[in-house]
Amino acid sequence: MIEAQNLCKDYALKLKEPGLKGALKGLVMPGYKTIHAVRDLSFHIDKGEIVGFIGPNGAGKSTTIKMMSGILTPTKGRVLIEGRDISKYRKEVVRNIGVVFGQRSQLNWDLRLGESFELLKHIYQIDQADFDRTLEDLDQILGIREIIDKPVRQMSLGQRVKGDLVASMIHSPGVLFLDEPTIGLDVSAKYALRKFIKEINRVRKTTVILTTHDLGDIQELCERLIIINHGVMMEDGNLSEIVDRIAPYKTLVVEYYDESAPEHPGCEMTEHDGNVAKYKFLKKDLTAAEIIADLSNIKTIKDVSIEEAGIDDIIKIAYGS
Ligand SMILES: Nc1ncnc2c1ncn2[C@@H]1O[C@H](COP(=O)(O)OP(=O)(O)OP(=O)(O)O)[C@@H](O)[C@H]1O
Ligand SMILES: [Mg+2]
Repeated sequence: MIEAQNLCKDYALKLKEPGLKGALKGLVMPGYKTIHAVRDLSFHIDKGEIVGFIGPNGAGKSTTIKMMSGILTPTKGRVLIEGRDISKYRKEVVRNIGVVFGQRSQLNWDLRLGESFELLKHIYQIDQADFDRTLEDLDQILGIREIIDKPVRQMSLGQRVKGDLVASMIHSPGVLFLDEPTIGLDVSAKYALRKFIKEINRVRKTTVILTTHDLGDIQELCERLIIINHGVMMEDGNLSEIVDRIAPYKTLVVEYYDESAPEHPGCEMTEHDGNVAKYKFLKKDLTAAEIIADLSNIKTIKDVSIEEAGIDDIIKIAYGS
């Protein structure tokens, strides 16, 4: 469905020396520095996948999304959507793409929301029946009827994002790129947006590529994760497999009735403080139930809990490496 082949993007950054002299020199003889925002990214995304595309600030996520959606031309490499090179068949390919930037609206601020949709209907040459049906479907999920007559400039952030989402799907694209769509949204707006992504993916089999710094979005929506840093691929795989590989351990926390705590041969006792001992074990070798059974053969247990690396720990480890 989507094929990124050796994508690279360099930005030329104008260097400015300080002071008036520097500014004048910059005008006459500007110096440039090259920023390698994306370096040789390759991946393949199948139809109907929801892929979390994540990485720290400045990693190159937005740059990659812009190249994949035809907004930027790659310095090197290419993007194929359904086998067609986006830079060669831009018009046809873009017809099959929707894109939302949470940070910036694609809607016209001076128009009412409904008028913006009408404009898109003409741009994409959508026939009236299809247009009405899609709008009806999207309204069912997002509830946009009450804001459809509002000028975009008068909308709250959450309303504006809803408007942007509908605008991005009005021509029923097969691929939807979402760059930080949940940024700044309140809990219920986030919930609506996640529901929207799940629904269009389930019903329309829309392929979704999502960048976000909200780990809740990832956990709720994505089976697959691509992690980039400094424009380079760090991880590409199944979310739970990445979690298992990066954090293969769990820790069993056991509380006893007194301060003595037995060792367990399969675990490392990482902490022993008062009545509580912590047993770190490899998830592939043992289960917490087995350890609890072994320990309670030796000594009566009062309480247990399990500590596991959450997705936030995983991300921290992955971003750090
Ligand atoms: N138009 C531009 N001109 C020059 N440099 C740019 C431009 N756009 C982005 N960059 C640089 O390219 C790098 C990657 O930026 P990009 O916006 O793709 O990162 P990102 O992963 O989306 O980060 P964030 O999580 O902060 O949104 C950064 O170093 C950024 O400063
Ligand atoms: Mg970005």
